[in-house]
Amino acid sequence: MLDSLFRKKPLAKILKDVESNESHGAGGLQKVLGVRDLTALGIAAVIGAGIFSTIGQAAYDGGPGVIFLFIITAVTCGFTAMCYAEFASRVPVAGSAYTYSYVTFGEIAAWVIGWALILEYAIGNVVVSISWSSYFANLLEGVGLHLPAWLSTDPTTAMNSYEEAIAAGTSTEGLAWTTAPVIAGFRFICNLPAAIIIILITMLAYVGIKESRSSANFMVGLKLVVLAIIVLIGIFYIDADNWSPFLPNSFTGVLKGVSAVFFAYIGFDAISTTAEECANPQRDLPRGMIYSLIICTIIYVIVTLVITGMVNYSEFNNVADPLAYVFEKINLGKVGFFISVSAVIAATSVLLVFQIGQPRIWMSMSRDGLLPKRFSKIHPKYQTPAFSTIVTGFIVAIPSLFVESALMTDLTSIGTLFAFVLVCGGVLMLPREENTAGKKFNLPYINSQWIVPILFIVFLYGFRERIINSATNINHESHQEILFLIFIVLATVITIASFIKKLSLIPVLGMLCCLYLMIEIPARSWGVFFGWMAFGLVIYFSYGYWRSKLSTEKV
Ligand code: ALA
Repeated sequence: MLDSLFRKKPLAKILKDVESNESHGAGGLQKVLGVRDLTALGIAAVIGAGIFSTIGQAAYDGGPGVIFLFIITAVTCGFTAMCYAEFASRVPVAGSAYTYSYVTFGEIAAWVIGWALILEYAIGNVVVSISWSSYFANLLEGVGLHLPAWLSTDPTTAMNSYEEAIAAGTSTEGLAWTTAPVIAGFRFICNLPAAIIIILITMLAYVGIKESRSSANFMVGLKLVVLAIIVLIGIFYIDADNWSPFLPNSFTGVLKGVSAVFFAYIGFDAISTTAEECANPQRDLPRGMIYSLIICTIIYVIVTLVITGMVNYSEFNNVADPLAYVFEKINLGKVGFFISVSAVIAATSVLLVFQIGQPRIWMSMSRDGLLPKRFSKIHPKYQTPAFSTIVTGFIVAIPSLFVESALMTDLTSIGTLFAFVLVCGGVLMLPREENTAGKKFNLPYINSQWIVPILFIVFLYGFRERIINSATNINHESHQEILFLIFIVLATVITIASFIKKLSLIPVLGMLCCLYLMIEIPARSWGVFFGWMAFGLVIYFSYGYWRSKLSTEKV
């Protein structure tokens, strides 16, 4: 039993399967993506809901120095991107982290990671569609149209707003909870625009990668132009006094924004799901990922510096639309309309890339026999994984009608970081010399033997008070301290392994940084994450374990 759980898919077999799929005519995907398209797809997936909303609270907690957090997160993502690039260059097939884990850790890990990626792509898109809907409502307001409140929010948020209003003694008139129609005793409240945009995007993803590519390129161009205009106007209103103090709440304040800022970076890895639609995946995928990460980091740092220069950081508490807010503060509220346009376009492009990514992961899982065959069926005319695309549409559109965004954001971040940790760990398992001929990207090997222990000692020294507090407050009801101590234990094991085995530095740092970001996510969301993963294992043992091609075919 244990053997079959850890059965690995040989690299040669993966490449052969893809070739044979392609040689059967309709079975192949269209190879149309070049490095520019991939970079654009990366930017399309990264710059979205995050920068238009999360930056506000992060700037309040950390002050202008939150730019350091953007840089630290970018470096973490950079380590991971290089590991993805190493894999993408050795395993140039769709499936992303799922396929990579199948090669290195074996089937059960591959299933677990494929299941976790649903959190990144499908659940991530639920969050983005909710944010899309709120900016879209702003846009409509700008042209004098008003959506009923009960058609543009979820029931939990509506109830919370109602209870807050009651507690504060303010008016409840016009709130979704009080205006919603009551059907059979239930208040009918849903986020209709969020579901509609998902249906439209799913239709686009269904009809073809070329159409999707052109739309993504167009949207990226447009959102970059609008962001550039915002920055160029904003620069004239910067008051350098607002940058002093640069770190008002020291580094602890900066670190509070970890998961919010991380969400803003999610997506650069999504382009690895399009490997089979690239003209030259081994050369272009690594470049596309790294270029898009660099461009997005530069944009994030500039935007953060501009808005914290325009308005003092202390005014960003609970500001959900910081970019529009700073322009209102300097009496240029009309710019807010452009910001809403830009936010809607940015979120739309994220939706598109994720809505393309999810079906391709299912396609790979189905090819391996872990999901029913229909999931890998390619549409004869559009050459897209049609059934998977439709299922993705339903899986995202239905929750986007009713669920609340905060928990979904945490789940997206945990799922994504979990995938990142396994990809970095997977690179450490790859034989160093294998298949380098014809490789267009090589992850540089730097010996971690001394560097990691030194960094770990510096970390322990810097966090000494927290370690003592965590050990003494282990029963704290939030359980966050337990997560922190688990991190210390894992980091100790990884450090010892680095010292003994002289592991490659970049994947080790990628793992450590991602693990740290994970434990900063609220512990209550971890409960839901474990529930989701357990559900995934039940499905695996009821279906995939028995139908896996590796168990039925001789490889
Ligand atoms: N990085 C993506 C966004 O910010 C998920 O919307």
